[in-house]
Amino acid sequence: MKKGLLKKIFAVALVGVMTFSIVACGDKAKTDEGNKKELVVGLSADYAPYEFHAMVDGKDTIVGFDVKLAEEIAKDLGATLKIKEMKFDSLLGALPAGQIDMIISGMNPDPERAKKVDFSDIYYTAQHSVLVKKEDAAKYKKTEDLKDAKVGAQMGSTQADITKEVIKAKDPTLLSNVNNLILELKSGKIDALVTEKPVGEMAIKSNNDLVLSDIEFKDESGGNAVAVKKGNKELLDQVNKTIKRLKDSGELDKFIVEANELASKQIQQK
Ligand code: ARG
Repeated sequence: MKKGLLKKIFAVALVGVMTFSIVACGDKAKTDEGNKKELVVGLSADYAPYEFHAMVDGKDTIVGFDVKLAEEIAKDLGATLKIKEMKFDSLLGALPAGQIDMIISGMNPDPERAKKVDFSDIYYTAQHSVLVKKEDAAKYKKTEDLKDAKVGAQMGSTQADITKEVIKAKDPTLLSNVNNLILELKSGKIDALVTEKPVGEMAIKSNNDLVLSDIEFKDESGGNAVAVKKGNKELLDQVNKTIKRLKDSGELDKFIVEANELASKQIQQK
């Protein structure tokens, strides 16, 4: 091959590599195949019926009503949805860092969090419940009964705050994954587990050795909301529009029923 031709090939290849790197470094929200925008949602898929793993057509898939909501937001934006599974306590850092575009993970918009991210309107409300072993149900009737118990909650969650500040539990067990906390409860490493009530209700369906105690905590934050990067008004406006559309049409209620059914079915298959 002639030297000149080789040089030319090299130059073309170089331009190719450079173009590729420029595209690869570009804003992730703007580049995707077919020029469709990509919308990345961060969530912790250990929270049935909000978000959880299920076998769909023989494939491990992340499902739940939060996922449905995310899909609808992406649809309204004309974007492709990408789900990024993370630890719950990593989500609030990942958003300002630009690793994700929004959080939909059963998150409560508390004032501390609202300093770091912007929250949408409320899309769902639930109280907080306390799971215990069936044989312990009579032992835990009111908040004070939990003071000397081993109480668990998800790390970085509202329930972790409740455990520390309301229950005033000594040495609470804070783990990243709610499913592991359920195992800790079943094996007796902890005596009680605080979660959102729909999650507790789902957990007792799949674990007949567990029950919901009489103890409940009112949610102080008004419910669950979507988080976006501070100042991302454009996305926030769209999220609120989608939430309103789904509420008005009754679709959101349908998603919640479907997610509960899917989670229950998953349990029966086990
Ligand atoms: N609602 C609680 C909070 O905002 C817990 C949410 C946990 N979500 C999850 N996907 N594990 O802290």
